[in-house]
Amino acid sequence: NKKITIAIDGFSSTGKSTVAKGLAKKLNYVYVDTGAMYRAVTLYMMRKLFVSDTNFDEEAIIRHLPFVSLKFVFNEQKGFAEMYLNGENVEKEIRYMEVSEQVSKVAAVPEVRKLLVEQQQEMGKEKGVVMDGRDIGTVVFPDAELKIFMTASTEKRAQRRYDELIERGDEVEFDAVLKNVKDRDFMDSTREDSPLIKADDAVEFDNSDLDLQEQFDQILKIVEDRL
Ligand code: C5P
Repeated sequence: NKKITIAIDGFSSTGKSTVAKGLAKKLNYVYVDTGAMYRAVTLYMMRKLFVSDTNFDEEAIIRHLPFVSLKFVFNEQKGFAEMYLNGENVEKEIRYMEVSEQVSKVAAVPEVRKLLVEQQQEMGKEKGVVMDGRDIGTVVFPDAELKIFMTASTEKRAQRRYDELIERGDEVEFDAVLKNVKDRDFMDSTREDSPLIKADDAVEFDNSDLDLQEQFDQILKIVEDRL
């Protein structure tokens, strides 16, 4: 079997990472969660520059970028790679609502995107990679052999995200999660640089009414047709 590049894009909490992780495991491919990279940069800027709803200095973010070092380290026990920011495991912290509320602003900064896209292209250059995000099929790997554009209703997505956060023990309100999903969708799809958009050659996949197993089986079929 030849190794291919699989790009999975879509709105927030469409279940991209669940599918991507499953595919990577099944095919013995590397999984790259590019959202984790934008989240880690955001966390760094929140700590260093106190980025918040009322405080956002793009110039300062650009100046601090060279001090951000990102690394994925595979956790054997968990079966997936965790995000390290300057040597610190930040896997849990980058998923907090506080970070979710700032990430789309930081991710709209072209210098941030340029840096992370270069790293993503490097990570995927040998193929045999499943990468998920917002601009993988359009910008990072426009030549990917398979592009999937995941969609699901906004309510379904917010509910899944909420369940996930509660499951982890975070204290969040459903309405705040719903608002965040909507805000990020809007910012991610209207930004100037690399907006979230379905690539012309992407397969659109709506999983609103599918359970995880059905979803995985259908996507695996699409993948096997391309191998
Ligand atoms: O995938 P996840 O929801 O964790 O991504 C968090 C945020 O990072 C997105 O809402 C978006 O603003 C940004 N992002 C991006 N491009 C990517 C992946 C994520 O702009 N390829």
